[in-house]
Amino acid sequence: MALDSLRALIEAIAARGDLVRVDHPVSIDKEITEIADRCMKSPGGGPALLFTRPTLAGGAPSRYPVAVNLFGSGPRMALALGVECLDEIGERIAALLHLKVPDTLLGKLALLPQLAEVAKFPPKTAGGRPACQEVVIREGDVDLAQFPVPVCWPEDGGPYITLAGVITRDPGSGTRNVGMYRVQVLGKNELAMHWQRHKVGAAHWRAMAERGERMPVAIALGGDPASIYAASAPLPPTIDEFLFAGFLRREPVRLAKAVTSDLDVPAEAEIVLEGYIDPREELVLEGPFGDHTGFYSLADYYPKVHVTAVTLRTEAIWPHTIVGRPPMEDYWLGHATERIFLPLLKLTIPEIVDMHMPAAGIFHNLVFVSIDKQYPGQAYKVMNGLWGQGLMSLAKVVIVLDRDVNVQDPQEAWWVALNHIDPERDVRFTMGPIDVLDHSSRGFTFGSKMGIDATRKWKEEGFTREWPNRIVMDAETKRRIDAMWGELGIDLGGRGR
Ligand SMILES: Cc1cc2nc3c(=O)[nH]c(=O)nc-3n(C[C@H](O)[C@H](O)[C@H](O)COP(=O)(O)O)c2cc1C
Repeated sequence: MALDSLRALIEAIAARGDLVRVDHPVSIDKEITEIADRCMKSPGGGPALLFTRPTLAGGAPSRYPVAVNLFGSGPRMALALGVECLDEIGERIAALLHLKVPDTLLGKLALLPQLAEVAKFPPKTAGGRPACQEVVIREGDVDLAQFPVPVCWPEDGGPYITLAGVITRDPGSGTRNVGMYRVQVLGKNELAMHWQRHKVGAAHWRAMAERGERMPVAIALGGDPASIYAASAPLPPTIDEFLFAGFLRREPVRLAKAVTSDLDVPAEAEIVLEGYIDPREELVLEGPFGDHTGFYSLADYYPKVHVTAVTLRTEAIWPHTIVGRPPMEDYWLGHATERIFLPLLKLTIPEIVDMHMPAAGIFHNLVFVSIDKQYPGQAYKVMNGLWGQGLMSLAKVVIVLDRDVNVQDPQEAWWVALNHIDPERDVRFTMGPIDVLDHSSRGFTFGSKMGIDATRKWKEEGFTREWPNRIVMDAETKRRIDAMWGELGIDLGGRGR
């Protein structure tokens, strides 16, 4: 059974002994960050945290607890998505994609249940009063200061909502988008929306601005864990994240009508901020913000959201994450995307064997990719292919290796890559769009990229010298040493064999 809500996820984590309830009063002003950062930097990502007595900026106790680092380990990420191992989801997608429409009727019938598997998960709009609207605070009564919205880092421009799904709609097609974008609290009922220019929410906003129409926005905190993750996934604009979450859950996501707009919101959310953006209004200064690069994002201008209602559960829990110098919780959300989307990448670049975006590369800075090289120049074909795929277009450095390199182990990937390259011959530069968070590019969101061909070089690629083998001990010697290991008196803590 899929987990339906944030509280169900918290209970499931607690049942595994992986949750620490912090009953000591802790300020939302940077103290939560310092504690969460120490946990996230510990081996395996540290425990999930539930701060039961957070204190607000003025020192008053918060009515609402704050949950942090719920997704911050491999096992918890898998638990959130209802699998033992994240690759299961990729394999499920691969199986669907490899379905070939068979010729025979019998074959077609055999296919039906699998097709139905995709079709049966569209979100459902629930009747009655949804959990996320047990309490409704409207217009003038809204005061965001009563919620535990943390200030993360010393130079941040203000308190930030960090683990939300921002719901918008394409004014042309009506397709919904849910994106995880940080949102700065500017005042009692005003927010700044940091959707970056390459993201779908920003595209919806540009389309609304062109029409000169007010844009309804809903910011959902909590809900079923698959939907929370789906908001961070780089889905094509035509795919509704709640449908994708339903596919992941193997159960539809339950939605409810917002109270002040015609958007649908997750019925099981803890808290929903409803509001609108008026594209005729001036942009507002957003930031600075201690970002997942490990550096501050500079302040810049973004749209202002007017909050028209806050709806919540009576005993709402505030979900939160922090970003900063990696590794952080977001590594695990991004890692889930890496595993889930690998089969989709293979669909257009079939020679890809595996890929990995190591934590220190913060996703867009570094991609290791291993390929089944079959012809000269193929590494360049692959890097160019990657730069042509959705948000992969923002990758700054792509390193292509042969299929025998375990790219999941960055030490191994660097070791092989640095051995295999003649820098002047194997490194290529090109230009393209650059991530909004990159502070080094020559222009805002525009700059250069580097592709490194770290595959073995072939004669046809102009390499005429002999290429050496990797050093590997022969199996017979290994077997003999295994047999005598126990007698040798060498204790390597179980690592000898
Ligand atoms: C914790 C976290 C915070 C994020 N903050 C932002 C943000 O402030 N702005 C943004 O554009 N993307 C942010 N992202 C990345 C987007 O969620 C991601 O690119 C997603 O694919 C966007 O959805 P979209 O493709 O529907 O626009 C964040 C991701 C995570 C995991």
